[in-house]
Amino acid sequence: MTKDIYYPAYVAALFDRCSTNYRNWSAVSSFGFVRRWRRECVALLPKNHAADTVAVDLMAGTGEVWPHLLKRFPTLGRITAIDISHQMHIDAVNRLHKHNAKRITHIEANALNTDTELPADYADMGLSTFGLKTFDADQQTILTQQIAHILKPGGHFSLIEASDPTGWSLRPVYRLYLDKILPLIERVFLRGANDFSMIGTYTRNFSDCSHMRDALENAGLEVTFKRHFFGCATSASGKKPIAYSADAA
Ligand SMILES: C[S@@+](CC[C@H](N)C(=O)[O-])C[C@H]1O[C@@H](n2cnc3c(N)ncnc32)[C@H](O)[C@@H]1O
Repeated sequence: MTKDIYYPAYVAALFDRCSTNYRNWSAVSSFGFVRRWRRECVALLPKNHAADTVAVDLMAGTGEVWPHLLKRFPTLGRITAIDISHQMHIDAVNRLHKHNAKRITHIEANALNTDTELPADYADMGLSTFGLKTFDADQQTILTQQIAHILKPGGHFSLIEASDPTGWSLRPVYRLYLDKILPLIERVFLRGANDFSMIGTYTRNFSDCSHMRDALENAGLEVTFKRHFFGCATSASGKKPIAYSADAA
């Protein structure tokens, strides 16, 4: 494994190249599971929020989770979308979410530096759908500190990521699909590209959300870890305690 695949510039360029096909490719290649998992991620956020609620979507991509978020929270005041890929933001605004443009603030930035973009205690909710795998363990730890920084005391978070379903009897089939069949399909249909195939490598390295869970706890947040569909995705959700103290974390 080379460390280079975790450099922000490498990741940004990878997703710039993927952005146009990302939406359809992720839905088709996962047999629709990504949609279900985005919905499940949003469902882990409790419903009782005020009308001017602010949600931060970390590693927002083309905003695939926003329809689920706006359905669960119709009176949501604002979504602040953070993504490092310029092209993902462009596609989100131009192609997909023009009708909701007034409610969405786009920030093209590295989520590991969120504290330079957003003030402390900024958000009522923080979420991420499939944005964790391109961080190594140290970067995940930094990300959890950023989440603790931007959430208001009492604010909730929900993070979900594709994971390696260790212990599942069908894991060899799942790995064969991710490691061999998907790259082959991509080479044939996307004319030799292998960008989406990197997702298999990132997912294998990521393993699951257990490091995030531990790091979130160390950052002083309350966390629940959950496996989705035999562990093919895992989530870490919870809240920043009302009596949160950064010093205690
Ligand atoms: C697999 S996509 C997920 C997009 C979307 N959340 C979804 O549900 O489909 C991962 C996204 O994370 C973004 N990303 C990766 N590393 C990032 C970083 N350090 N800071 C901000 N965004 C990042 C990528 O540009 C990409 O848009």
